[in-house]
This record gives sequence, C-alpha cells and structure tokens, in this order.
Amino acid sequence: MSWTPASHQRHHAVHPHIYRLHFALTDFRPARSWNVVELPTEVPSQFEWNGTILSHPGWGVLLELAAPPDGRSAQLSDYHGQLLARPGDQLPAGPASQEIRLRLRRDHKAAYYGLGQRMGPMRRDPGSFCNWTVDPPSSGHHRGTASMYQAHPYLMLHRPGLALGLFLNSSWFSRFDLGLEHEDEIVICTLGGEADFYVLAAATPAELNHQLAELTGFPMQVPLWSLGFHQSRWGYREQSEIAELVSQFRRRQIPLDVVHLDIDYMDDFRSFSFHPERFPDPRALAEEVGAQGVRLVTIIDPGIRFDLHSPYEVARQGSAGGHFLRNRDGSPFSAYCWPDAALFTDYARADARHWWGEQQGFLLDRGIAGVWIDMNEPATFASPFSEGFSSQLPVPLGLPSGSGDDLTVHAEVHNLYGHQMAQATHQGLQRLRPEETPWVLTRSAFVGTQKWAISWMGDNHSWWEHLALTLPQLVSMGLSGSPLVGVDIGGFFGNTHAELFERWMEQAVFYPFMRNHSALGTRAQEPWAFGAEVEERVRGHIQLRYQLLPYLQELARLAHEQGLPILRPLFFEFPADPESALHEDQAMFGDAILIAPITRPGHTHRQIYFPPGSWYDFWSNQVVEGPTFRVWDAPLGKMPTFCRGGRAIPLDAPRLSTQEPISGCIWWIFPEEGKGSARRAGQVLEWQDDQVVLEPPGACEIVIRRKDTRISRDYP
Ligand code: GLC
Repeated sequence: MSWTPASHQRHHAVHPHIYRLHFALTDFRPARSWNVVELPTEVPSQFEWNGTILSHPGWGVLLELAAPPDGRSAQLSDYHGQLLARPGDQLPAGPASQEIRLRLRRDHKAAYYGLGQRMGPMRRDPGSFCNWTVDPPSSGHHRGTASMYQAHPYLMLHRPGLALGLFLNSSWFSRFDLGLEHEDEIVICTLGGEADFYVLAAATPAELNHQLAELTGFPMQVPLWSLGFHQSRWGYREQSEIAELVSQFRRRQIPLDVVHLDIDYMDDFRSFSFHPERFPDPRALAEEVGAQGVRLVTIIDPGIRFDLHSPYEVARQGSAGGHFLRNRDGSPFSAYCWPDAALFTDYARADARHWWGEQQGFLLDRGIAGVWIDMNEPATFASPFSEGFSSQLPVPLGLPSGSGDDLTVHAEVHNLYGHQMAQATHQGLQRLRPEETPWVLTRSAFVGTQKWAISWMGDNHSWWEHLALTLPQLVSMGLSGSPLVGVDIGGFFGNTHAELFERWMEQAVFYPFMRNHSALGTRAQEPWAFGAEVEERVRGHIQLRYQLLPYLQELARLAHEQGLPILRPLFFEFPADPESALHEDQAMFGDAILIAPITRPGHTHRQIYFPPGSWYDFWSNQVVEGPTFRVWDAPLGKMPTFCRGGRAIPLDAPRLSTQEPISGCIWWIFPEEGKGSARRAGQVLEWQDDQVVLEPPGACEIVIRRKDTRISRDYP
C-alpha cells in the first residue's frame, strides 16, 4: 500500500499545550460519535511542526519522526495472538485491516510511563505493549501479560523540566513498542488506517495530568460513602448471610460502608433479577443494612440470558427494541457467559445505551446504591458455564456494531465495550436518581472512562508477587488519567493467609478504592477470618482509613477538578529529583503522605528512600531529613508511613460508617520553614510559624507536630 504524506496529514493545536498530529493512509474519515477527545477546536499555539519535528519554544524538540509514517494491509496472523480473536476469524476488510505505523526517535534522556493497566514495572521502556481489552486467563496475570482488561493507548514521557503525553486516539487494536524493535525508536502501530495523535506538553507531571483531563475528561466525582471500606465476596449466597455479615462488622466494631453482591444474588445469572428464594426481599435487606450505615452495590454483567419465553422481560424488551448485537444476517448474536447463552447490548448505539440506562431503575427501586459492571471486555466463554469454566471465545471481529453513520465492525469498538457500558450505566443512574452522585465500578475501560466509572484491576491472586505489583499498577493508572482505582484486597483467586492479608490491608488504607473481595471456593477473608490478633490490627487499619477520609475526600476533589492522581509515584511530587524516579515500591498518597509498604513474607523492616524535605514518622516522633536512605522497622500493623514537612493533614475521629456524625477532628501541622496551607471540605487552614488560622473556624483541635512532640498511638 502506498502512502502520500502531504495529502494525508493534518495538524493543529487544540489547546495552547496540546498539538494534534493526524496521519491517514487514505482519506480522513469523519469523527465517530464515541470519540473520547473533548477539545475538537483549533486554537493558536507556539508549537511548530515541520513535517518531521514537533517543537515548542518552551521545551525545544518534543517529538521527531524517525521515518515517514507507513502502512500495510495486515492479517490477524501478523499479531502472533496478541490481538485475541476466535479461531478462524480474520481482520475484516477496510480500515480494520489497514495498519498504520509511526516510528519516533526515542529520547534516551527520558523515562517512559503510562499505558494504563499493566502488571510490569511502572517505567515502561524498554518493552512492548498492546491495547486490546481481554479477560486474561485465570492462571494469573504476570509481568509479561501483554493485554489486560483495560486499554489506554496513552504514553507519558518524563525528563526533568518536561512531561510529555502522547495519546493515540484510536479505539482499534494498537501496539506501542518502546525500544525493543529498534533500540533508538518508539514504534506505534494501529489498525484503522489513521494515526490520530495528541501531543501534550507540560512542565510538570501535575500539569500534564490536568491537560489529559481537559482532553479526555475529568475523573468523576465520587460520593463520600464510596471512599469508605467495601466488603465483597463471590459466594455470599443468601440474603440472610449478607444481613449477618453486616451485623458481624457492627458487633466487632469494624467500620464498613458498602457490601457488594456478586452474581450469587441473581436468578440463574439473569442481570436485573434477584433470586426469589435466596434473595426474596432485596429492599428489606437494603433497609436493614442501611439502618446500620451500610449500602449495597450489585454486580451486573452485559450478557443477558438468552431467554425470550419466560417472564424475564429484559431479554425480550432488549430484543424487541433492537438493542442487542446482531449477526450480519440480522439474527441475534449470542455467546456464552454466566447464564450460558447470552445476548449482548450494542453500547455503540445511543438508543441501546439509553435502554440499558433505564434498566438501572430495577436496582434503584430495590434500594441499591451503586452498580458494579463486570465481564465487559467483553468476556465470552467457549462453552456453557453450566458445564464448568472454559477458555474465552471472543466476539467475531466483523460483527456489526453501532448504527447510522457510526455503523462499524466489532474490531473498532471492542476496546470501547466496557467504556460505553460504563457511560450507559452512569447516565442511567443520573437520569433516574438525579439527586445522588452516580457510582459505577467497572472492570474494562478505555481512556475517558474515568468520567463514568472508577475501576478495579480485575482477578488478581493471593500472591505476594501480586501485592508487590499493585503499587506500580495503581500509580500507572493515575498517570494515565484514571486516579480512582483499587485492587481486590487479599487477592481474588487462591487462598490468602494471615500475613499476606494483613500486609495487603495495611497498604489498602491508601488505595483510592478499598475493597476486600475474593473468589468462589477460596477461604474466608473477612477481617476476622484470621483470629483475634489479626482482627484487632485490621480493625486499626480500617479505622485509619476512616480517620484519613477528610484528606482523601480532598484528594478525590482534586482528582475530579484537576485530574490529579490520588496515589502518585515519587517522581510526580519530586520531578526534579532523579532518585525519586527509581522507587516504585513507595508512593505518595496525595502530596503530604509517603508510604513504603512491605510486600514480602517475613520482612519486618525495609529500606526507604526519603525525597528532599522533612519527613515525620506517622507512628512516632521521629523526623528524617531527605534526601536520604534509611532502613526502617515495619512490624505488622505499622506500615512505614510519613508526613511531609510543610503540609498539614486533617484526621477525623474513627467512626463505623460515613453516615455516622463526626465526633471529633484534628489537624496535624508538620512545620517546615515559613508558611503553609491545607484544606478539608469547606475549610482552609493557614499557618505561619506558630500562627494558625482556620476558616471558617471549627471545633477541630490543631496540633503542630514538632520534632520532639509525642503523639499518642491510639488517637491521632
Ligand atoms: C469476574 C470478576 C470477579 C467476580 C466474578 C464473578 O471474575 O472479575 O470480581 O467475582 O467475575 O462475578
């Protein structure tokens, strides 16, 4: 295939610091209704593009093509199984099989990050990464897993003084090779025949995240209750079991805001149904647990039981309305999921999304507070689930999807399936219950999903390796524009054990989303499942989470208003400090708290890197002056946690649920030279030396922590 550079490239700024470079093998196609870019207009800027080099007077050369973009007619076999498809499937004709490739010079002075949800190191180069949403095999994700549940074709590059973002606005299969194919090049390929790049340039990672949010959407606002503790398990089979679970939490005085109902609650795995015997009265359950300050969230799967002749209306209505995917001959497309043969909503159609949104009314009528959407890569099995677990049999790449001008093949919207399901669910909740902030949790996602849902990282294992990989994974999600994330605490598959569970809980206090979840058939992992001693410490961790809620709430506000991550790699806060780029086993929780978790068995101390500044030990009166390294004690129950000099942290007295009134609060000020300020909902604290002003004044106690202040262990 030949390619004519001049006639098939266009370029312009969409923001003073965001430049669009758009290459096409043939004519440009009109933008799709699902385009995630929110800045379509052209604005003046100081960028200069000469056909090979993009530069800016502020930063010099930002990007340089190593060769003119080129294209080819691609076959599925070219992807060596990276583009997961059903046996015998082919790339459909047209854009679906037109691969366009860009070769950029690799900046050896920079480090490459981003690319969303991965299992490997936070620093991505050298490496090769696919963007194709899949439900990876349950044998376990590992450092080399090429594709996960979510796809983020967004690369970040950082060197002191420059944070550069490269968003490939393509929902098709794409691949980023960072220095493996050619040591000196970044090679980016995508199907679809067009490479639509947005280059974002900023002085700091924080400014870059803000620009990414301007380009692709600000993370959604979350209700306070969702920042509390969530308990979940696949295998809570009865309504009475849920009621008993909540009573246990209360008897044991362990804070809890949310219980998740997994597929067990459904009637034969029908989405939007409750089992008539096992969950006879969900509304009564919601009221009963609600009286104890606990909300219910239900899982919903996209696969709707193919059941057109029973009283189950969802399948009939969806079919009659034409909302499900259909084969080329117009017959219903069906694939196996939990309910065996299932129909799948075509979320690429606006009318189908609207219909799906309306289905949420069934849950709201039963007192459900939020919706957990799963299996939306989409995950489809090779044989009926009733016959046991099987491998995946993906949706055919050529299946029609969308409508009108947006009619296309599945290959174009595959990566958007979870994204548009999240959009449909969120918008439905918003329409049906406008007085409350919608809350949606999704497994699959794309760039932009942060507007509609928060996410968790899928089916991890109860392995130390997975605990260790979690921090790099979550901070990478934040760098890629999705700050509201968490993983299954304790591990989903496999049996956890006391030490692993405790270490996981210690770390999870600082996850933006804190949920204990595990698979059917695994051992119990409620906070009391490991004996009284563990329970006591775990209660302490969850209490600490609740004490930190005003601080976390402020971080969630900054995520929503400025796109800032909640969990941040050290280099995000200390971009000028080269050492900070090297420690992905530590992170910043906001700008004021440094955490250094234990992620190995039997370890009771570890080495910690302290970036520049003063660091106050959270648990004692010790202060460390950075930059420096120290070996630090880390017995169970005392994960190394430090507060940054020059910052202040608001803490509430512990409570059992966010619905309980706050019985006391305190501000800890960690002084450094000069003045500082901090906020909690509606209140601003300012200080200069010993002068402190709280506006509006409140009943909070204020403690200036000096290097010699003793702080009681029990009540911060
Ligand atoms: C998927 C989800 C998991 C859930 C299970 C059953 O594996 O990732 O969280 O428990 O399905 O619904």
